[in-house]
Amino acid sequence: MTPTDAKRPLQLNDQGQLRHFLSLDGLPRELLTEILDTADSFLEVGARAVKKVPLLRGKTVCNVFFENSTRTRTTFELAAQRLSADVITLNVSTSSTSKGETLTDTLRNLEAMAADMFVVRHADSGAAHFIAEHVCPEVAVINGGDGRHAHPTQGMLDMLTIRRHKGGFENLSVAIVGDILHSRVARSNMLALRTLGCPDIRVIAPKTLLPEGIEQYGVRVFTDMNEGMRDVDVVIMLRLQRERMQGGLLPSEGEFYKLYGLNTQRLELAKPDAIVMHPGPINRGVEIESAVADGAQSVILNQVTYGIAIRMAVLSMAMSGQTAQRQIDSESVSEEQQ
Ligand code: NCD
Repeated sequence: MTPTDAKRPLQLNDQGQLRHFLSLDGLPRELLTEILDTADSFLEVGARAVKKVPLLRGKTVCNVFFENSTRTRTTFELAAQRLSADVITLNVSTSSTSKGETLTDTLRNLEAMAADMFVVRHADSGAAHFIAEHVCPEVAVINGGDGRHAHPTQGMLDMLTIRRHKGGFENLSVAIVGDILHSRVARSNMLALRTLGCPDIRVIAPKTLLPEGIEQYGVRVFTDMNEGMRDVDVVIMLRLQRERMQGGLLPSEGEFYKLYGLNTQRLELAKPDAIVMHPGPINRGVEIESAVADGAQSVILNQVTYGIAIRMAVLSMAMSGQTAQRQIDSESVSEEQQ
């Protein structure tokens, strides 16, 4: 595993604006901050009686979910609706066709519907990149989670949660705990925290749930949770991704909970005002105690609310980046013709 991603420029237009949103890898701090600032302004829209702005009026957003999802799918739908777009959601089964065929066929069908944006979730790492490379040039592609690779809108909604509760990233200790190996959320969070200047990023997990080369992300690794939790400001718990495990990685869930579950006593090792986060769905009694998940330090439901604002920010920014690129392209064509 390596944190460098050769496909980065695909996401940006000639002026460095967002055009697709596939991974946080290589995106500059200014762009991440712009996403957070834009999302902050959209949070106010969600609090209005009429929760709509006309930014994507006349545009069609198509959610293409090759993998199940509740939170991500519905918050993308709401985000697009609050921007006044027309929204359709396709739940595509991956069981019968091979990856290349499914993606290409689906793509052609969606293009035929004249969608302006695709939000893609897929069990295979790289699926959103594949679509962005093959789709017609005026369509923006947003990654809603691909395999173990990336979940950039989740990463950014986690950053918005931290910034709103802690004011910034410069003096923070953040611990990411649990099944790092299978987690696209962990990867996006490590990249975002590093780019935004967090000086102490810790990962806490058993050796069997840590990917090789994790140190390249600039994190400190702890296999002892009690050590890793000491004086942290933020704890990000991850779900045990049992559907991605091929046996043998864990002795048992009970053992995992004993060693890596977040309970009230362990939370006391963190700073007294530490916040507890989780991307959901949570497994109560597997990685987190109910008293902690529902407790005063938990911001798990705030994350869901912030997720709509982040998705509104990303959809609107990518759409305007696409429009700007089209303008640039048409100007260069007319210059050539002169
Ligand atoms: C995460 C995902 O799908 O990667 N969930 C989410 O998007 N809300 C994390 C998970 O499934 O554990």
